[in-house]
Amino acid sequence: MCGIVGYLGGRDVYDILIKGLHRLEYRGYDSAGVALETPEGKLNVYKAMGKVSNLEAFCRDKDLRASVGIAHTRWATHGEPSDNNAHPHYSEDGNLALVHNGTIENYKVLKDALMQHGVSFHTETDTEVLVQLIEYIKLTNGCTLIEAVREALGQVQGAYAIAVLEKGHPEQIVAARKSSPLVIGIGEDEFFLASDATPFVEYTKEAVYVKDDEIAVMRRGEPLRLLNLKNEETTVDVTELNLSISQLEKGGYPHFMLKEIFEQPATLHDCLRGRVVEHGRRIVLAGVMDNEDKFRAAKRIVIVACGTSWHAGLLGKYLIQELCHLPVEVEYASEFRYNNPVIGPDDIVIAISQSGETADTLAAIQIARQKGAFVYGISNVVGSSIPRETHSGTYIHVGPEIGVASTKAFTGQVLVLTLLALAVGHLRGTVSDQQVAELGGWILRLPTLVKEVLKLDKKIKHLSAIYTYARNFLYLGRGYNYPTALEGALKLKEISYIHAEGYPAAEMKHGPIALIDADMPSVIVAPSDHLYDKIVSNVQQVKARGGSIIAIVSKGDTEISKIADHVLEVPVVPECLTPIITSIPMQLLSYYIAINKGKDVDMPRNLAKSVTVE
Ligand code: M6R
Repeated sequence: MCGIVGYLGGRDVYDILIKGLHRLEYRGYDSAGVALETPEGKLNVYKAMGKVSNLEAFCRDKDLRASVGIAHTRWATHGEPSDNNAHPHYSEDGNLALVHNGTIENYKVLKDALMQHGVSFHTETDTEVLVQLIEYIKLTNGCTLIEAVREALGQVQGAYAIAVLEKGHPEQIVAARKSSPLVIGIGEDEFFLASDATPFVEYTKEAVYVKDDEIAVMRRGEPLRLLNLKNEETTVDVTELNLSISQLEKGGYPHFMLKEIFEQPATLHDCLRGRVVEHGRRIVLAGVMDNEDKFRAAKRIVIVACGTSWHAGLLGKYLIQELCHLPVEVEYASEFRYNNPVIGPDDIVIAISQSGETADTLAAIQIARQKGAFVYGISNVVGSSIPRETHSGTYIHVGPEIGVASTKAFTGQVLVLTLLALAVGHLRGTVSDQQVAELGGWILRLPTLVKEVLKLDKKIKHLSAIYTYARNFLYLGRGYNYPTALEGALKLKEISYIHAEGYPAAEMKHGPIALIDADMPSVIVAPSDHLYDKIVSNVQQVKARGGSIIAIVSKGDTEISKIADHVLEVPVVPECLTPIITSIPMQLLSYYIAINKGKDVDMPRNLAKSVTVE
């Protein structure tokens, strides 16, 4: 969701900005633009609606010389996607150019006030208000750009990551952040700036994550300066990036999503590394070990997340209730933040987020902290906001997930939640040594078992052709596979645009059964577990109404295999580990159906990878 790139240094500025924008495409956007300042201090802005390639085509005959530049991919919030609303935005006199991620909540009040002072506006965006405000302050107070930025940020409410160029100052970028990510790469006499480190990973491994309410001043030939809103210098903490360029490429696969689905044996292995030791007899989760007293004393767990991460959270509830005997509530972060949550120091709040930047989840964390809860983060992106805002936590370590539809992050999140439930259960005495050893042994085998599941690829590809033109799908499951069914339905709808409902199988008869006919296929997730006999009768109910059935069952299944139209057999594993196994055929099914329909699976319409606005 919106991406910022900036560069100041001796390389080809335009080239670095465009490559950087391509790297950030996965975040989701609908227009792109670039501001280039020539060595003589002329400030040029070029923008185009649609893909970054449209911007490149537009720029072909333009003056692309530059000593410094900023660029942006916009995901429309205020005003439609258009050339005009695309960033960067000029100030009234064309002396400033600014890019912005986030939303300025009080933009209307500020805009009205500026208009009364004679400032005119040319776009529908909240961002233009910010650049006009900075210029207005600069002119009225006769101050420097840095002072004007500081004063303007003191007046805005909302979330922002910004970068500003000033005409006549080709040696400088001024940037700032609040609740929207921004990271600076430091090279030899050069600075990179981006929403995440992917645009500059091949140039430098030294990164500085800008903190909330910090203004960054990058000047050629000078060290990076960070200032807070009181104009005090703050510490520059340099982090070593652990990211490689090969992780950001497709590695021979036609799409990132397929690559990420097939990476899962390796990503699960990476997620486990050093955490399940002594042949499975011991779980080592630093975040839990460092906070044993908190986990021992907890009276309740509340999980907050959005989308796929919320589905992983729902699985976390089943796992923690079974293994730790603790009550667990799972809330959409967007609801939690506004529904007066009753939270206190006896609660542990677990916030789950692949990107670590989801605005609603971040807000939920802040509320939980204010109310005295211990907040534990489960995230993928090292150095992102959520790990920094939580008291402790665990990274899932599945590598960059570029496809907008989450796949390997989901299985990584579920695996970390499984380890957490086992570790906490052991700590609290609800899980015995023997149970840890048994489940630990199975967990160590998961990467190999997932490899086995991926052999269904050809069969699923073939199957997808039969269902490509279905207009609705039902996904049913019970127990641990109810959240998995929800996730299966989400995967299908977000990349193929087919309407799909996930439902607890037994609830079907309370309403959705009315929808079932020959045109409404059902995917039924029914591995051999303690609810198997129950789900058999749900399958029969679908069949009796003429619905076709794709069943995901355990190897050796006899009952459902006889009734279903198509059967996908997965290895037998203990019940609480089935979601990691059963979710994979559904990822592949969604992928192939979307491909058959000619959809852009890596960048589905309207979606963003990192949802940094409310
Ligand atoms: O980065 P997060 O895990 O916080 O993102 C939450 C959701 O936006 C995300 O899971 C979304 O639902 C994905 N597109 C699912 O594939």
